[in-house]
Amino acid sequence: MKKLLFPLFILLCAGCARQEAALPEFVPGQVWLDTDGNPINAHGGGMLYHDGLYYWYGEYKVGETTLDPSLGWEAYRTEVIGVSCYSSADLYNWKFEGLALTAVEDDPNHDLHPTQVVERPKVIYNERTGKFVMWMHVDSPDYFKACAGVAISDNPTGPFEYLYSLRPNGEMSRDQTLFVDDDGRAYHFYSAEDNATMYISLLTDDYLLPSGTYTRNFPDQYREAPAVFKYDGRYYMLSSGCSGWDPNVAELAVADSILGPWETLPGNPCVGPDADKTFYAQSTFVLKVEGLDNAYIAMFDRWNKLDLENSLYVWLPVDIQGGKLSIPWADRWNLSYFR
Ligand code: DGJ
Repeated sequence: MKKLLFPLFILLCAGCARQEAALPEFVPGQVWLDTDGNPINAHGGGMLYHDGLYYWYGEYKVGETTLDPSLGWEAYRTEVIGVSCYSSADLYNWKFEGLALTAVEDDPNHDLHPTQVVERPKVIYNERTGKFVMWMHVDSPDYFKACAGVAISDNPTGPFEYLYSLRPNGEMSRDQTLFVDDDGRAYHFYSAEDNATMYISLLTDDYLLPSGTYTRNFPDQYREAPAVFKYDGRYYMLSSGCSGWDPNVAELAVADSILGPWETLPGNPCVGPDADKTFYAQSTFVLKVEGLDNAYIAMFDRWNKLDLENSLYVWLPVDIQGGKLSIPWADRWNLSYFR
């Protein structure tokens, strides 16, 4: 009998070891490959969870990074190619779904012409209209245009039809994000007043326009890269300071009402090596993980300003201890962090 059980034991152990080795992981700051084996190309991205799948939209940056020295600041850019879309059931394995929104090459005056700037696309789903709505930062190469662009689609993977650009509530709009509250109302957060002030603007019921209700937040504090989430009935906004493509220290703010007032929490939410530089990265989105309690992933871009295509992703868990939120560095981690 012993003779029979021993090989079985060895087999079981080998099985366990294999299973452990196969545990998927997030490895912040490394090159992440899609299911075709290509580096994931979705910068300044945003996530949408719809019908059992996560969709990751981002700036599809391919080719040379250029700088117009006459601008006098580090306005590094790549040509506009479009907004990429990846899908995943588990957040580890990402399938490239192609470009959800594509550049318009034959009209030099179009917001999506390759010579322009398209950044930080975010997509939300409108339950009433059944449409997927994308808002993005559209700009001229000198960043003076400072507008929000809006596109719409029947499918999460696109194609999205570009509708227009606008200055929401008559103000500049650069770094931006969207947030849909539990009541279905959607809000546009955008760096306005030449980045000095963060506007929070309620959208119309179809999510296509500003409703006219908005608030000015963090005046003269120059917050960029807003990433908004709701935890335990309160609203949180992770953001960066304003230093071009270079990293700076993050801040976390909280509010009982989404339109404010917002209060910046003391201290740095990031913890660990290089936390004072947000781990050499900049916030782009905070994702609530489906099916797990109090599980949020803070998502950042580690920009490579001289080679923007090869900028990397830093995803980290939001740690919640006694109602206090922090973002600890981890060389590698997975969703078991939340269990
Ligand atoms: C910082 C912003 O967060 C980025 O999205 C990009 O607009 C750069 N500035 C450009 O310098």
